[in-house]
Amino acid sequence: MLVERNVPLQAHNTFGISAKALQLVRVRSESDIGSLLADPQLRDTQKFVLGGGSNIVLTGDLKALVLKVELKGMRLVEETEKAWIIEAAAGEDWHEFVQWTLDNRWPGLENMALIPGSVGASPVQNIGAYGVELQDRFDALDAIDLATGNTFTLDAAQCAFGYRDSIFKHGPGQTVGASRSMGLAGRALITRVRFRLAKAWKPVLGYLDLEKKITETGINQPSAHQIFEWVCAIRRAKLPDPVVIGNAGSFFKNPTVTPEQCADIIARDPKVVHYLLDDGRIKLAAGWLIDACGWKGKSVGNAAVYEKQALVLVNKGGRENPCTGGEVMTLAKAIQTSVYERFGILLEPEPVVV
Ligand code: EPU
Repeated sequence: MLVERNVPLQAHNTFGISAKALQLVRVRSESDIGSLLADPQLRDTQKFVLGGGSNIVLTGDLKALVLKVELKGMRLVEETEKAWIIEAAAGEDWHEFVQWTLDNRWPGLENMALIPGSVGASPVQNIGAYGVELQDRFDALDAIDLATGNTFTLDAAQCAFGYRDSIFKHGPGQTVGASRSMGLAGRALITRVRFRLAKAWKPVLGYLDLEKKITETGINQPSAHQIFEWVCAIRRAKLPDPVVIGNAGSFFKNPTVTPEQCADIIARDPKVVHYLLDDGRIKLAAGWLIDACGWKGKSVGNAAVYEKQALVLVNKGGRENPCTGGEVMTLAKAIQTSVYERFGILLEPEPVVV
């Protein structure tokens, strides 16, 4: 196990923000964690687990010991009468994993194609797209307790999944969700994630953009592979490729409101995009709210609102002249204020700010 010092993190966060890790260890095997915890100095140092860096805003150098997860491997764990149980190590690239499952004719993850980031980060924020969330396909995960070195397994209920939320996004002092469990942020390192992919596969096509593809192509019964291709095309048209323009995906969560609040907003803005949820509440499209406030293309320094999707903040300075985390957060706060002043809704950021 090697402790690297002053490691540049620009290539390890999809925003492309320039910052350093004062100390960084690459975790390539579980025994690396054992060695780390056997070191009297490193054992008690605060730790920060870094996956694909696709959901973080770096506002300065990282003083915590950065654990860069590079665990690899993908396999079929078990085939039952009803499902395939597939496992991937935390350091695998999410999109490559989705592609591999489809190449092996195990459908189920196609709606989540092209989401940037690693497999290990996928349960942290319960990634989701085009009508499917990770928790719908999740079986269990293995993790290491960084305080004790013990390994443990969590099922979906224990992960306390919510909309872009889980037990891994909350600190040890906070209880999370209905399970009332203590948060595991900075305390646990996810090593492997298992997915349960049902053999009775049904396409999920309820999302407007996918319905449009059906109308355009006339393909009424698409295969999983066809849906994968459509999702990739939709994302490429709407969302910036982080390799070309730095970003961390949607910057805010879509807020939910009561029917009364929604009626009040509709009375003032009849075009507000909203969806009825199963529990009777209403989800509003944060992208629409931000767009309605005129933010598309606006910037603070080199942090800007993406021209094609107002929910995405981008680094318009590229690698040469990147935005700072401070610029991103100043822009985010200005957006929050203007959306609050016009609609009375406080948008909640999606990425983790460090
Ligand atoms: N809209 C606008 N203007 C904008 C942006 C959006 O009017 O600038 C409107 C769109 O026309 C549409 C609605 O808002 O009617 C919703 O937009 P979109 O379909 O692009 O989806 P979203 O709600 O903005 C969510 C997820 C994405 C996910 C897509 C597809 C969140 C915070 N974001 O975006 O996830 O890919 O749905 O399922 O839930 C991510 O989390 O990083 C992410 C990219």
